[in-house]
Amino acid sequence: MKQSLLHYILNGFMTGMLFISCHKPDVILPDEEPGETAAFTIPENFPRVMIDPDNPMTKEGIELGKQLFFDKRLSGNNQISCATCHRPELSYSDGAALNNIGVSGTTLLRHSPALINMAWANNGLFWDGGATNLESQAFGPLTAHDEMAQNLFELIEELIVVPEYVQLFDKAFRAPVTAANIVKALAQFQRSLVSANSRYDKYVRKEAGGFLSDEEKQGMLLVQLKCQPCHATDLFTDNLYHNNGLDDDFSDAGVDDIYLGRARVTYSDKDIGAYKTSTLRNIMVTAPYMHDGRFATIESVLMHYSEGVKYSPSLAAEMFQKENGEAGIPLSETEKKNIIAFMKALTDTGFLKK
Ligand code: HEC
Ligand code: HEC
Repeated sequence: MKQSLLHYILNGFMTGMLFISCHKPDVILPDEEPGETAAFTIPENFPRVMIDPDNPMTKEGIELGKQLFFDKRLSGNNQISCATCHRPELSYSDGAALNNIGVSGTTLLRHSPALINMAWANNGLFWDGGATNLESQAFGPLTAHDEMAQNLFELIEELIVVPEYVQLFDKAFRAPVTAANIVKALAQFQRSLVSANSRYDKYVRKEAGGFLSDEEKQGMLLVQLKCQPCHATDLFTDNLYHNNGLDDDFSDAGVDDIYLGRARVTYSDKDIGAYKTSTLRNIMVTAPYMHDGRFATIESVLMHYSEGVKYSPSLAAEMFQKENGEAGIPLSETEKKNIIAFMKALTDTGFLKK
């Protein structure tokens, strides 16, 4: 089975996933025909994606991961779950700029990002790309003192006495409760959070209910012209790291160089102040905005791009869109209004209600 997976990766054939039922847990395998699976379907208008062959998605794994994601037993004081900071109705973000709801009560240094379309986040996780994949990432919040402050041995002891969990782990992995299986299940659940049914999606896929007003269409064209170098494809992110001009003074690098952005990870001056491009999907429910939640409203984000971009040597080349060569993206009041109208059409209400 492994070999055929590898075959598909090497040939780059993958356009979709197929659900195969047999004695093992239901395993989703890549297939040349898109759209065959109950648990994971690649939306027609999304780029292709390869699921980690070491952690294939199964119905049982996703179910277990979901249970874990919402379970407060995952934190040291049994009062915080992943969903405390990643709330489904807010596209798995938390509505706070920098929250202090972790076990220690200390204010975090970064804003909780939305967790959607994570299966496509294949170029590092966290605002600065400090984690490689969802499997390794989960150990971060689980054990971080200011987040869930959990001792992994204690967590296993806590879960192993719950008959339902023993059964779920067995069903999902044919194996007992282990730290590795906890993070694998969490990763599978997060990869299943595909959000692709906004009115915009229905419009591009020519489905029922898929219309855009003239104003929204204008907004779409503006986003394609001025924002899509970075908020690219129908994922509305290029999964790359850019300095979009929020700051020009990086003399205070902060604890662990946290204020340097991507440069904390790459040690390259070119990445100072660079952060991962956020998606524009469900953007109307994920305020406040940016890695530190500095903008409370979408209007202030657009004001930043049109009037507030700060020059520094690492500023992204795509930020120089003004005719006089200065930094910034020129936007008239009408253009801003149209872009906001379009962004409203990117809300996937069905997903948020799930
Ligand atoms: C106390 C709040 C809090 C809790 C609890 C929490 N997170 Fe987070 N999460 C954050 C913050 C803040 C970030 C951004 C950190 C950064 O980028 O430096 C983040 C980032 C992430 C990311 C990276 C997303 C991306 O696009 O790069 C993932 C994935 C994630 N969290 C999953 C989880 C999982 C799984 C759990 C439970 C095991 C969890 N989180 C628990 C606050 C929290
Ligand atoms: C140079 C690439 C680039 C361009 C061009 C760009 N952005 Fe961004 N955008 C980013 C990056 C990077 C972030 C995250 C920055 C951070 O958090 O520090 C971001 C963040 C955002 C956010 C906040 C998302 C969130 O969840 O916090 C919004 C909204 C946004 N951009 C809208 C736009 C719009 C609208 C345009 C076009 C007018 C645009 N961007 C052009 C790179 C870009």
